[in-house]
Amino acid sequence: MSQPVSSGHGDQYSAVLRDRLAARTARVGVVGLGYVGLPLAVEFARAGFETTGIDLDQRKIDAVNHGTSYIPDVPTSEVAKFVAAGTLNATADFGVVAELDTINICVPTPLRKTKDPDMSYIVSAVEQIAKRLHPGMLGVLESTTYPGTTEELEQPMLEANGLRAGVDFFLAFSPERVDPGNPTFNTHNVPKVVGGVGALSTELASMLYLTAIETIVPVSSPQAAEMVKLLENTFRMVNIGLVNEIALMCDRLGLDVWEVVKAAATKPFGFMPFYPGPGLGGHCIPIDPFYLSWKAKQTGFDPRFIELAGQINGSMPQFVVEKITDALNRHQKSINGSTVLVLGVAYKREIDDMRESPALDVMALLHQKGATVRYADPYVPAIAARAWHGGFDMQTEALTADALADADCVAILTEHRAVDYDMVLKSSRLIVDTRNAIAGKHPHVFKIGAPAPVMVLARNPGQKAMA
Ligand SMILES: NC(=O)c1ccc[n+]([C@@H]2O[C@H](COP(=O)([O-])OP(=O)(O)OC[C@H]3O[C@@H](n4cnc5c(N)ncnc54)[C@H](O)[C@@H]3O)[C@@H](O)[C@H]2O)c1
Repeated sequence: MSQPVSSGHGDQYSAVLRDRLAARTARVGVVGLGYVGLPLAVEFARAGFETTGIDLDQRKIDAVNHGTSYIPDVPTSEVAKFVAAGTLNATADFGVVAELDTINICVPTPLRKTKDPDMSYIVSAVEQIAKRLHPGMLGVLESTTYPGTTEELEQPMLEANGLRAGVDFFLAFSPERVDPGNPTFNTHNVPKVVGGVGALSTELASMLYLTAIETIVPVSSPQAAEMVKLLENTFRMVNIGLVNEIALMCDRLGLDVWEVVKAAATKPFGFMPFYPGPGLGGHCIPIDPFYLSWKAKQTGFDPRFIELAGQINGSMPQFVVEKITDALNRHQKSINGSTVLVLGVAYKREIDDMRESPALDVMALLHQKGATVRYADPYVPAIAARAWHGGFDMQTEALTADALADADCVAILTEHRAVDYDMVLKSSRLIVDTRNAIAGKHPHVFKIGAPAPVMVLARNPGQKAMA
């Protein structure tokens, strides 16, 4: 889409917004107060803006207005401080958009079952904003999406009432790069890529972010900014797929992938370590690349890396279950009737997020094969029946020596640091470790991508050790 040239109106509106941003008198809004939106709203409040969060979930609105955080990376004390100071509030009423100078959209972008983008959350939020869009307003989409969303989908909806993007109002895309649970990098210090519809949109969106974020990286268009995010997440997905395939090969070759990756990572240039695991999880890496692949297919392009990495990563839960089956077999147990304690179910360590977690697939496969499945995760108190294919509600076990000893097999799927792995090692009868959480080699610890431990068959203690 062509970039509009600034007109007199654009200059006039941009000057007003520039002044309000500089003076912190602009009223800013964030739609979607989840893992991305709440930290962003808190940063805007910290910058001194009166910030309003809009969400459909009344529990989140109540929590914010009571000064409570429900996102682990955002301390409750911060939310409480800004709510008390009157710089942060939340509402379900989109009517407030009429009073806002800026609005950032941070709503979900999941995949449909067919692996097509589900744009319904963006469309619904933009419909509400379009009704209240007023001249001089700045809108920034942050939800991860396919290249073209801002200009092909959002812009026409916002322009339906006659206002023009880049002239009468300002429109940009800026991908969110938050890494939940990362103690070093947060919303404030991760550089922010910004691509606007026209130069004024890019400038104003950059100015808004610079009040709250250390480094801004402007790019030439919203589409370029959308593609940046998909390159980043596709890069991770494909490299995780590659190292998972290397792990499958190591498994066959009798090599230890963990040793191999650790040694390769000593190369000071041209290599970046990725680690194998039970599969991909979270709201981003398993999903976002399929937004790109969907868009590429519209142009007749066949995106092979994404599909292949998706297949390999998607096969990992099955591989883990085979590993558990094999480990139990070596202990003369069948999976049918064995108790498997899954240790760590969140999709990655130090967080409570269960979205797309491969643990759900592993548990469902174990359940289908007749295992009694239990789990322990300090971050996930319960799993609802509807969240997995086991069909019943589950509660976490307290991770005690007794709970570990009771299980025929302990399967480590997420390596939370809070877990006492010495106790796990000492108390468990059999361990399948998919994360290399247990250091070293032990006769009762099986790892993915590594040779089975040397063990003596229990039935015949006099028999020779086998590998
Ligand atoms: N979670 C991450 O680590 C991460 C990182 C980078 C990018 N992203 C992207 O950011 C976007 C948001 O992700 P998230 O993890 O914050 O999601 P989330 O589910 O934690 O939060 C989304 C929020 O939007 C609200 N919502 C949904 N529809 C709405 C509507 N029409 N109006 C108002 N509120 C609405 C939901 O109630 C929810 O509170 C997604 O596109 C995601 O891919 C997420």
